[in-house]
Amino acid sequence: MKVSVLLPAAGSGQRIGRGPKAFIEVGGKTLLQWALEGFAWADEIVVALPFGHHLDVPGLKAVLGGQTRQQSVFNMVQAATGEIVLVHDVARPFVVREAVERLLCEVRRSGAATLAVPVPDTLVQEQQRQYGAVIPREHYRLVQTPQGFRRELLWKAHLEAQAEGLEFTDDAQLVRSLGHPVALVEGDRRMFKVTYPEDLILAEGLARTWKS
Ligand code: CTP
Ligand code: MG
Repeated sequence: MKVSVLLPAAGSGQRIGRGPKAFIEVGGKTLLQWALEGFAWADEIVVALPFGHHLDVPGLKAVLGGQTRQQSVFNMVQAATGEIVLVHDVARPFVVREAVERLLCEVRRSGAATLAVPVPDTLVQEQQRQYGAVIPREHYRLVQTPQGFRRELLWKAHLEAQAEGLEFTDDAQLVRSLGHPVALVEGDRRMFKVTYPEDLILAEGLARTWKS
């Protein structure tokens, strides 16, 4: 089955505060270049870019991003032609091939899956800035990308959410809101999301020894 990889890259990187994250360099390459290299094997790559940005990479489909991540993904699903789509945040530069293979295997079987990792720290509720109830972390997972779906299913979920005016932070929530189960597949902590300035220091360190 043909696989399309969708790369949302249209965010403004407010929390890092250095402009759109896709164009920040780590180990001499932009986060977008890292993601493109990580998925070089894909049958098709679609990227959502911020307004005013253009890319001239042969064979790459670029679409305009939206106001939200969900809108950016909507535009890419519309442009994608693969039977299976993998949605992957450009803000996660280190693509671990084995984890992606695990995910694809599950998507081929059940139609919808995401990578996720255990919560390493104690998880506690903040109650008026005090230590509140501890949440049993073994019951929780941190959700990563890529997330994979049959394209028809993801498209239906996006149309539904748009019609209902629902806005979600990831695609697994969208598909689940349709009533379709989304499998959790073991992710990899190296696929962390570059979100805060200090994450760039971690990324620089990992980039030094990275072999894809
Ligand atoms: N994204 C997107 N379109 C948007 C918002 C986000 O394509 N309108 C993408 C980002 O480029 C990123 C991914 O969604 O690859 C995850 O988003 P996040 O880490 O929140 O990135 P930003 O929105 O850019 O950062 P911030 O929330 O700090 O502004
Ligand atoms: Mg954001």
